[in-house]
Amino acid sequence: MTPRVREEWARRVAAEYRSAGVTAQVLTWAIQAGLPPDLLHLATRIVTDELDHARLSHEVLLAMGGEAEPVPLDAADLEVAGPFPHALVRAFCLGETFAVPFFAAMLRGTTHPGARAVVERVLRDEATHRAFGWEALDALLTLDPALVAPLRAAMPALVHDLRGYADPPPAPPVSPEERACGLLDHVDYAAIYATTWEEDVRPRLVARGLWSAG
Ligand SMILES: [Fe+2]
Ligand SMILES: [Fe+2]
Repeated sequence: MTPRVREEWARRVAAEYRSAGVTAQVLTWAIQAGLPPDLLHLATRIVTDELDHARLSHEVLLAMGGEAEPVPLDAADLEVAGPFPHALVRAFCLGETFAVPFFAAMLRGTTHPGARAVVERVLRDEATHRAFGWEALDALLTLDPALVAPLRAAMPALVHDLRGYADPPPAPPVSPEERACGLLDHVDYAAIYATTWEEDVRPRLVARGLWSAG
């Protein structure tokens, strides 16, 4: 396997583990905000999902010839910036809503059996995580409609945090072997980001008064 395959799966281990921490923090905030019990239980399930994703991604990394040692993680990278509504939008309404079409595109070219099984599992779960994000946001805005104005003001910065996908640094195209191992070309990330923003994310934000319709 190419070093880039191992680097990418190691990055995914770290990202999935970080998602578990973000979700645990979101769960704490959701309990403090008094969100409906169904959403709190769903958030606990999502913490478990993300820990599973991290473990499964590590198994793929090992299958690709990676080291058995834990992927190094900086504790500072696991800190979650608040406040709650901003973190919820950043990680779930934006992060998970973009993740679904990214993983769907990955799955189409992933033929390595171990990688394919993990991409399938993650894709299935991320659709639920995306739904949690928008339902939790709606519950939060129903409890406190005054949150719309500050959240709307923060949206450009929150969207900017995800811009890495829209504007990827130049990199050599992904080889057929890398593609089979679950990697996606940077130009594909950019194209999927643009389509998902226009057709999925932006309309959902507009519907909630969080982005201008024009
Ligand atoms: Fe995940
Ligand atoms: Fe997730």
